[in-house]
Amino acid sequence: MSSPVIVSAPGKLVVLGDHAVVYGYPAIVTAVGQRLRVTAELRDEPVLVLDAPDVRIEAYRKPMLKLGSGQIDKGARVIEFALRRLRDDGILKTGVSVKTSSEFSAQFGFGSSGASAVCVIAAVLQLVQGRIDHRKVFDLAYQSVKDSGSSGSGIDLAASVFGGLIYFVIGGKVIEPLKVGSMQFVIGYTGVKVDTGTIVAEVKERAKQYPKVIDSIFASIAALVNAGREAAKKGDLRTFGEMMNFNQGFLEALGVGSAKLAAMIYAAREAGALGAKLSGAGKGDCMIALAESDNPPSPSAVAKAMADKRLRRAGRQAISDNITKAGGQVIDIPCNVEGLKLES
Ligand code: PMV
Repeated sequence: MSSPVIVSAPGKLVVLGDHAVVYGYPAIVTAVGQRLRVTAELRDEPVLVLDAPDVRIEAYRKPMLKLGSGQIDKGARVIEFALRRLRDDGILKTGVSVKTSSEFSAQFGFGSSGASAVCVIAAVLQLVQGRIDHRKVFDLAYQSVKDSGSSGSGIDLAASVFGGLIYFVIGGKVIEPLKVGSMQFVIGYTGVKVDTGTIVAEVKERAKQYPKVIDSIFASIAALVNAGREAAKKGDLRTFGEMMNFNQGFLEALGVGSAKLAAMIYAAREAGALGAKLSGAGKGDCMIALAESDNPPSPSAVAKAMADKRLRRAGRQAISDNITKAGGQVIDIPCNVEGLKLES
């Protein structure tokens, strides 16, 4: 047994370019401030011992030679494939004990499984090589989720590894941190848990059925993502918000909206959000809104702005209140947070 290492990584929300990113178009993602933590240590016997209480896994054992085959508990799948990749690449030659703990619920769609692949790989690299190379962690994690049969873009992994706000192209062909000042997002959960793989497959079916229509939607999404990237670089939040609103229209066109998401999105816009859209696969999970400022304006400032026929400005609180009124659950956590980190 070695001495244990602890690493943590954040979850994510896609801000622009959801779905189109699976087809090679760019997207923008933010790391969200709830973290997954992994404690790992090497074992002499060639076996994985896994404890993941958040997904009800206790003292799960699997010989290293059988990783990714035979009976795989759903909650252990991502970790088995991450370790199998490390074994097959000759990086991990012993057994390993892994314990996970999560600050966030798997139900929100923040990418807890991606964050666990990232953390397990980083922890093993630290244990056997004494250092963590972030790009290597991303590449190994992306390869391992592909090994497990996922056709995802890897955008969740990029956010977990690198943190912040990132412009991303599938498989990490581009991973460009967007240096922005303050960007205040408000997150609302619909209460409806969705399966990303199922919805990605539905969009794939539509793309097969109506290739010209869907291709032109994806091309428009790419254009708005690129405009969002430029706006973010200039700190032009108003344009960034407009791009979120355009994006919502195209996501509706792809068939991944829902009445509940729409109600929460309109509620956020009515409270003055600069932009609001669903985030991720759609049909449930979360929506994300961009607030102009952290501080709600005073009622007299709002009245004056309205009298001046200026656009109403609103901060997080007004948007949060309206999302709650529309039946959403506001998840009050920061965005653009730090990525993968060695804790001890
Ligand atoms: O449903 P989520 O939040 O895991 O987001 C998935 C984002 C998609 O673009 C729909 C899929 C992908 O792999 O990029």
